Amino acid sequence: MQAVILVGGLGTRLRPITYDIPKALVPLRNKPFMGYTLDFLRGGGIEGAVLSLGYLPDPIQRYIDERGDLDGFSVEYAVEERPLGTAGGIKNAARFLQDGPVVVLNGDVLTGMDLRKAIELHRSTGALATITLTSVEDPTAYGLVEVDHDMMVRRFIEKPSPDEVTTNLVNAGVYVLEPEVLEMIPPGREVSIEREIFPRLQERRQLYAHVSSSYWKDIGTPRSYLAASHDVLSGAVGAGEGFDYMDVHRSTLIEKNVRILPPVSVAEGCEISAGATVGGRSSLGRGCRVGEGAVVEGSILLDGAVVEAGAVVRGSIVGPGARIGEGAIVRGLSVLGARCVVGEGNVLDQGIRINPGVVLQPRSVSF
Ligand code: GTP
Repeated sequence: MQAVILVGGLGTRLRPITYDIPKALVPLRNKPFMGYTLDFLRGGGIEGAVLSLGYLPDPIQRYIDERGDLDGFSVEYAVEERPLGTAGGIKNAARFLQDGPVVVLNGDVLTGMDLRKAIELHRSTGALATITLTSVEDPTAYGLVEVDHDMMVRRFIEKPSPDEVTTNLVNAGVYVLEPEVLEMIPPGREVSIEREIFPRLQERRQLYAHVSSSYWKDIGTPRSYLAASHDVLSGAVGAGEGFDYMDVHRSTLIEKNVRILPPVSVAEGCEISAGATVGGRSSLGRGCRVGEGAVVEGSILLDGAVVEAGAVVRGSIVGPGARIGEGAIVRGLSVLGARCVVGEGNVLDQGIRINPGVVLQPRSVSF
C-alpha cells in the first residue's frame, strides 16, 4: 500500500520558525520531523509515499534525496502551485497512486499508533474511508468526532465550547481512503478533507473510525512542538534500540565545570563553555555555542544558535543562527526566529515571538 503525506501547509501557527524551515523538517532530537514520518509509514508496512508539497518544497525534497537509505521505499513529489487544501493536496497526488486503498497522513503528526490495525479495521468494515481518532485532555482546541457503538462516525463538532464536549476523541490526522473518495474531491480548487469530504462520507454512512490509545501529538504550535521534543528526548516515542539519553556528539567542545543534564541531544560541532548548564530535555542543533555560566534547559536550539555568557534559556525555541546576548533571559515558550539578536539584559517571556532577523537593543524588553 502507498501513502500520501500532506506537507504543503504554511505552518502559520509555528511561525516564526516556519518562515525558514517547513514544519515537516523541524527537528526533534536533532532528526528532521519527516524522518519520524517515514519511519512510521515503513514500520506500518507501507511501500512508498507521495509527498503532497506546496510551501517550501525544495528543502523537503533535498532531505529525502540526501537520506538515501530508504531501501526500496519509493518517494514521489506532487508540488502544487497554490494551496489546494488537505483534500486538494491528496487529489493532486493521485496521478502517482496505484489502484486500491491509500493511507493519508498529516505531515505534522507524531504517533506510535499501529497503522496495520487501522488498515485491518478499514478492510473489515468495507467503509469508503477510515479516520483514526485519539483522545486528548482538552478537546476544545480540536474538531471532535462522535462515533456510534459500531465505530461509524456520527457527528463532527468543530472547536466546541466546553458545554458541547461530548467526547474527547479528535481526528488524529491518519486516514485510509478508497479510490472512490479521491474521485469525490473536485479538482483544481482548494478543498478541505475535514470540512468538505468527511461530512459527506458521514452523511452517506461510509465513514468509520479507528481509535488509537498510542502516543499521539501534532507539532503544529510552539507548545506542542516543544512538548513533542521533550517526549522524544525522554524516549516516549520513536526510541529505537540502544536509545541514549545523553546523545552528545563526540565533536562537542566541553569546558570545565559544565553540567550536562539528561535527557539531552547535542549535534555536531557545538561548544559549551565553563560553568554552563545544558540539558533537562534540551536539544542543540549543529554548531551551537553556549557561553560561560549560561543555562539552557528544556529548550530547542536550532543550528548555529548562540547563547552568550550568563544568559538563560528555559522552555523556549531558538531559531537557526539566533543570538542571545549576555545575561539575557528567554523563557516561558518564547520563540525566536532565524538570525534574530536579543541584546544583553533583555527578558523575553509569555510566549513572545520574535521575527527572523529582528535585533532587540540591549535591555529593551522586560517582563
Ligand atoms: P497552520 O497554518 O499553522 O494551521 O499549519 P498548516 O498549514 O500545516 O495547516 P494544518 O496544520 O491544518 O495542516 C495539516 C496538514 O496538512 C499539515 O501537514 C500541512 O502541511 C498539510 N496541509 C495544509 N494545507 C495544505 C495544502 O494546501 N496543501 C497540501 N499539500 N498540504 C496542506
